Amino acid sequence: MLTTARVDLVPFEVERDLGALHAMFSDPEWARGGYMTPAATEEESREWLEREFGDNGGWTWVLRVRPEQEAAGVIGVFSDQGTSVRGISWYLRRTSWGAGLMSEVARVVVDHLLRQPSISAIEAWIDSRNVRSIAVARHAGLDLVGRLPRTNPGEIAQSVVMGRAARPADPTTFGFSPVLSVRDLDETVRLLCSLLGLHVRFQLGDLAYLGCTTWNGQSGLEVRRVSGPVAPTTMTVDVGVLVDAVYDAAVAAGLGESTAPEDMPWSRRTFTLVLPEGHRLTVSGPLRA
Ligand SMILES: CC(C)(COP(=O)(O)OP(=O)(O)OC[C@H]1O[C@@H](n2cnc3c(N)ncnc32)[C@H](O)[C@@H]1OP(=O)(O)O)[C@@H](O)C(=O)NCCC(=O)NCCS
Repeated sequence: MLTTARVDLVPFEVERDLGALHAMFSDPEWARGGYMTPAATEEESREWLEREFGDNGGWTWVLRVRPEQEAAGVIGVFSDQGTSVRGISWYLRRTSWGAGLMSEVARVVVDHLLRQPSISAIEAWIDSRNVRSIAVARHAGLDLVGRLPRTNPGEIAQSVVMGRAARPADPTTFGFSPVLSVRDLDETVRLLCSLLGLHVRFQLGDLAYLGCTTWNGQSGLEVRRVSGPVAPTTMTVDVGVLVDAVYDAAVAAGLGESTAPEDMPWSRRTFTLVLPEGHRLTVSGPLRA
């Protein structure tokens, strides 16, 4: 058992804890707060717990807020996916929100997990709008390490990936900047910015450097002006929006050679954006909701 200032963390037992956790998982307002779908039946709650924590080597704890004996929530790592970077999730019943309980618990649990020899890092995938959960992750020492598209019922959203390594180290390589050679630099930059939401980080003579966001320090794209023939390049661009709207805008901009969007077996929807000078950008985004 682990303990924090106010909470006992007791190893999860499905038959003992299912009732209390189902009361939480089936609360529609609770689920809305986490941008999730509530469980309709106790069986669904059982499947939820089995799917997330079923094969995780026992690293699931229920929270008992002293002196209560009933589970107020649950925290655990995902079922073993054969990697030393382990995903974590945390769930607390709505009546206990906002008192700092999960922040207190997550810190203790993450510190404990990172002391295990088989775990090199902990990561949490959190809906970008779930500011409470992002704050919990920060309290547990996790930082923003990435972003992924996410398909929810009825909407496309984004997950932020928060992570903390047992032994933090600066990466050797932290980005790629592919080069696109073009004759018409200004028109290519205009098209890429308007279709893909890119930002001009700087433009100097025959070079424009485009970033995904207005922030510096991330991967980008170098667009270089050349005078001779252009060798068409192929590259993939990950987007966090439905690609259909990007495809429609590309066709409206006169890029009629672009191919129509298709669902791929690796759970992405893609189309090929063909630029005026023949470069082919595979635009890869979330599946439709
Ligand atoms: C996410 C969750 C576990 C947080 O638990 P909690 O005990 O309420 O969290 P804390 O009280 O420790 O608060 C976390 C942060 O949220 C902030 N917060 C509290 N109430 C808030 C509100 N109404 N709006 C925005 N932020 C709020 C707190 O200020 C705190 O940040 P700070 O300490 O930096 O100020 C809980 O809200 C929950 O179970 N949500 C539904 C399930 C879920 O989303 N799980 C995570 C899936 S990734």
